[in-house]
Parts: sequence; C-alpha cells; structure tokens
Amino acid sequence: MNIVLGVGGGIAAYKSALLLRLFTEAGHSVTVIPTQASTKFVGVATWEALSGRPVTNDVFDAVDQVNHVRIGHEADLIVVAPATADLLARAAGGHADDLLTTTLLMARGPVLFAPAMHTEMWQHASTQANVATLRSRGVNVLDPAVGRLTGPDTGPGRLPEPEAIFAAAMALLGSPAPEALDTAQTCEKATEQPESPAVKQGSLSGVRVLITAGGTREPLDPVRFLGNKSSGKQGVALAEAALAAGADVTFVHAHMEVAAPAGAKLQRVETALELRAATLAAAASADVVIMAAAVADFRPSNVSQGKIKKRDDTADPIINLIRNPDILLEVVAHRAAANRRQLIVGFAAETGDEQGDARSYAEAKLQRKGCDLLVLNEVGPGESGSERVFGQDSNKVQILSLDGANPVQASGSKRTVANAVVALIAERLGTT
Ligand code: C5P
Repeated sequence: MNIVLGVGGGIAAYKSALLLRLFTEAGHSVTVIPTQASTKFVGVATWEALSGRPVTNDVFDAVDQVNHVRIGHEADLIVVAPATADLLARAAGGHADDLLTTTLLMARGPVLFAPAMHTEMWQHASTQANVATLRSRGVNVLDPAVGRLTGPDTGPGRLPEPEAIFAAAMALLGSPAPEALDTAQTCEKATEQPESPAVKQGSLSGVRVLITAGGTREPLDPVRFLGNKSSGKQGVALAEAALAAGADVTFVHAHMEVAAPAGAKLQRVETALELRAATLAAAASADVVIMAAAVADFRPSNVSQGKIKKRDDTADPIINLIRNPDILLEVVAHRAAANRRQLIVGFAAETGDEQGDARSYAEAKLQRKGCDLLVLNEVGPGESGSERVFGQDSNKVQILSLDGANPVQASGSKRTVANAVVALIAERLGTT
C-alpha cells in the first residue's frame, strides 16, 4: 500500500522514524512529507534514507510532476505524526500552504492524525474545536497519550507509541497488525493462557454498536476532581474487536490512559452527566450498547468556581456528594419505552465479601439493571497482591445472561476478552 507519512514540527518527530520503519518492514511504500518546522528536529536526509525515496515539502519542487496531486491520488492512507496544534489548525481550516496540507486536501482515502503537544495546547478550546471539526469530517484523530512531556510537565499530550499508531493505521487499511495490536496476547501464548478465537470478519457487518469506555471525572474545583482507576483498555479492545467484525462503532469515552480506537466515531466526555447525555442520544440509533465505562456513582454537590484554598484559619473542607443517574438503567428503560430491538451489555467490577462472592453480587446486579448480558470482572488484588484488572493488559471475566444461559468464561488479553464478548453478541443477534 502507498502510505504518506506527514511529520509535524514537534520534538516527537524522532519517534516517527520508528513508525516509518514499522510501515516499510510491513511491506508498505512510504512517502514522507515533513513540514518545514519539523526538519529542525529531524532532517530530510533521515527520511530519505529510511524511506528510500526523495523527500520534499515544497510545492514548487518537481513542478512538472504536480507532486501534491500525484501523491494525494496515490495515497491509500495518510498518517500525520506528530500532528502539532498548528498542523491540526491548518488542516481543519483547509489551508494549502505547503506540500503536506495541499496533499491532505487532494487525498480521498483515510487520514489519521496522531497529535502531540503540551497539555495546555491540547486542551485549548481552539485545538479541541479543530479536532472536533476534523473528526466531524470523518478524519481519524487519536487522543494523545498521557505521560511525561518534553519539559518537567506531565499530562495528556504525548505522541502515542509508534506501535499504537501503526496498529491504528493498519486497522484503517483493513489489515490489522495482530502483534502490534495485541502484544499482551503474544506474551500470554508463552504462559499458555486460554485464547478465544479471533472475531469472525463480517459477523457484525452493518451493526451499529455504541461503546462507552474510560473513567468519568467529577470536578470539585477548576483543578481537582473525583476519578477512578479505569484505563479504558477494555473499552478500546471491545471497539477494535467490533470494528474487526465489521460493526459501525460509536465510541463515547471519558478519561483513558490509551489512545481511542481509530475507525470509530469518537465522542469525548468528562463527567457522568456528559456521558449520560452522549450515551442516551447515541443509544437511540444503536443496535447494541456496551457500557464498559466506569461511571462515577456520586459527584460533588458543589463545584467551586475558584480553587478550594488550604487555610489554617478555617476547618478543612467536607465534600458532600450527590448520586449520579444510573445510565445503564436508563438505556434499558428507554429501550422498553421505545419498544426498540437492542442488545444491552453491562459491566460489573465486583469483589466478594463475607455476605457473598463476586458472582452472586453480579447476578443480583444483572437482575437489577435488566441488561441482556453482564460482563463480570473480579477486581482487587490477585494472588500476587497486585491489582488484577484496572490498568492491566489482561482480564478474566464471566459473561452472565439475563435469560439464565450458562455463563461464558473468557480470559487472556483484554482483546481476547473483547473477542469473546463480540462473538457472544453476534450469536445473540444471529449474525455469526
Ligand atoms: O452499579 P455499577 O456501577 O456496579 O454497574 C456497572 C455497570 O453500570 C457498568 O456497565 C457501568 O457502565 C454502568 N453504570 C452506569 N451508570 C452509573 C454507574 C454505572 O451506566 N451511574
């Protein structure tokens, strides 16, 4: 396949050299178009040596070949990594002031942006508006990874790892890269964990699947929030499995530690109330709803406009909480009210105690919520003493059915568990 790799002017440009290697080693032909600014970080010679092709970002080079038209037409996929705030703005604005932006306007194939910038720049209203504009046009914009940035700062803004961008790119080309997508799965083979077969291609063809993922954050003041340990990994794995099965996926996600899945319609939310609004709206036209998000059950009853001050002359603050609506319950109620045919899957992170084991708590939850399937994770410390589920790459679940069918067990990487959930959904819909 012909891939165009656009490189923006950020320090993360050096990581795109590794991304380029992943593409060429997988047999793709890559044309690199670095922006002028990016060549201050990585020079043209590096790109020419690694791609084995001439590299320019000047529309007036080789004018006889009308480069932007040829490259844009020939591209099966354009990947821009790192995508700076400036590059996102220029792409959203339809600018055509260098070879990369003119090529983006010429291209008719899929486009994937992997942003990287400081947290403030990423969260700035202008950048978010540009990202929303691009996404509304069907452009795939990954969420940046969370972690250490160039200076002393930490937060969302890191370029996703080259392997993650590669996997997202391959998914857009319709040829998933199993090893890159799921390195955890490869490791598990060595320890002989049971594997669930890959999803059957086309088993959810044309099925509209809504997936919620990540952990909501409930603000206390402009700086602080109440959050939870959800990494979003299981939700992303579910989306990738559903996409691989041919589904049309809408992915509503709160805070995650991983990049959102490429190929899904993405909607980013922050709080439980925002998640509720986005979920109820999207559920109205979904055939399947998978509620994998970790939704805060409570939110602070008061959100302070200013930062709550630490003072020696007054008592420390007491946080009062109010209950958030149960979105899953509402989705089930709306289905009944609209007499809609819809399969609803809930998740339950449970621990056992002296009154019952995790399974009995999950059975009770399934009855209470009224969803069709409930995926039970036993959370908390495992035998080694470390956390079993949150933030981990693997998972062990039982999928319980409201109709009393025998629970389905699945364990292995989160993608393996996702494959089992998707296979059961296809079986229930009769689309296998
Ligand atoms: O009640 P509990 O939080 O254990 O239920 C978990 C399931 O319910 C998950 O599917 C979660 O996404 C969903 N949920 C919800 N709204 C809430 C709390 C949980 O939809 N307020």
